[in-house]
Amino acid sequence: ETLDASGLHLLPGAIDAHVHFREPGYTHKEDWGTGTAAAAMGGVTTVFEMPNTNPPTGTPDALALKLKAAEKAHVDFGIYGLLAEDNIDQLEALIDGGVAAFKCFMGNTFGNLPSPSTGAMLEGFEILAKHGMRCSLHAETASIMAWRQRKLAAAGRHDPLAHLASRPAVVATEAVARAAILAEWTGARIHVLHISSADELRPLREAKARGVDITGETCPHYLLFDEHAYETLGSIIRVNPPVREKHHQTALWEALSDGTIDMIATDHAPHDPAEKRRDDIWTADCGFPGVETQMQLMLTAVNEGRFTLAEYVRMSAGAPARAFGLFPRKGALTVGSDADIAFVDMRRRHVIRAAELHSRGKITPFEGMETVGLPIHTMVRGRFAMRDRRLCAETAGWGRSVRRAQAMPTPQPRNLDQTMEAVLRPPAPASARPRAVA
Ligand code: NCD
Ligand code: ZN
Ligand code: ZN
Repeated sequence: ETLDASGLHLLPGAIDAHVHFREPGYTHKEDWGTGTAAAAMGGVTTVFEMPNTNPPTGTPDALALKLKAAEKAHVDFGIYGLLAEDNIDQLEALIDGGVAAFKCFMGNTFGNLPSPSTGAMLEGFEILAKHGMRCSLHAETASIMAWRQRKLAAAGRHDPLAHLASRPAVVATEAVARAAILAEWTGARIHVLHISSADELRPLREAKARGVDITGETCPHYLLFDEHAYETLGSIIRVNPPVREKHHQTALWEALSDGTIDMIATDHAPHDPAEKRRDDIWTADCGFPGVETQMQLMLTAVNEGRFTLAEYVRMSAGAPARAFGLFPRKGALTVGSDADIAFVDMRRRHVIRAAELHSRGKITPFEGMETVGLPIHTMVRGRFAMRDRRLCAETAGWGRSVRRAQAMPTPQPRNLDQTMEAVLRPPAPASARPRAVA
């Protein structure tokens, strides 16, 4: 069987650094079969899956359960380990067990995992720095959020915009600034998840200028929706952090084009439709699926002249490959070299329909949107996971763990030795330190 790819563009398969596949624990929302099927249908060949499952991926036993669940994956995957207050002594074992990166919930979100103290984060970052492991941050400050929510509860929270008001941009901004300081002190690599506001960009830019190895992502929903979405979509658009006002959206597009935001990820967060469609936005679960629709939405942006196809590939594949160590040899351009390919038709029109999504969470704020540009075939390490817009069922189980590339270059520690005593000393001035390699 030959493939006629005339008229199609070949892109590196997208690497989505932020998905929630819910297994083990919440398989009525999603499982590894449905989640990775959605990825394959979206031109995504590698995903990094989040630890807020049940049990959370904070111990080697929980990691083993997750790796078992992932055995049916259609696409390659990295597993996130949890960095929490009570499992700092488990981090080394999680690394040995094959996690690809870590996730730290600085603020409250689905799964209700308590956020670690700043001290535990510092200690955890010190351990991750030794291994060159990146820590991705749900960068929201729990204590500011709790304070705002008390105020809102007192005022009555019937306004649908109250969800936005409960997590003002300062909630994220303070967390980014604090995490960047801890990364600078320990030499840890960090990644800011779901950037939603103009305000977070300042501590991100400042940290980059100081030489901190920090990357950032935004998601299609922050680029395509603003506060008007609360009137039209109600609880469906409820997500952490919230979709914000127009001026934030404008700043996010600018930050993508100037490189402040490195990559596009989706925060694919499926829920049962019954858990999403609520009259009272406060009782709806936060998040919605995204891994299947990212590429077509962003190719539409390419067609609209928002950025070039080459820039899209940098944001969808190049930057996440670099940040999460998927280049086996330093400097070697190996994205796509193991035939992770999205074959896309840049002119194909397609209307997004929740009912047609492969995710179990058949509800999407992008319902009814017409897109231009669509993945037609997806190849994972040389095998078709999607062909002619159909899932190749026989690739269930073909996906494998990417782990952390073994030859990942060692980070430059900000301090001479990596002991807690060293961490207690202030970092050397920027001029005296080697710059992180861009
Ligand atoms: C995510 C989920 O449902 O797991 N929800 C969300 O609103 N983004 C959790 C998260 O990433 O904060
Ligand atoms: Zn989050
Ligand atoms: Zn998330």
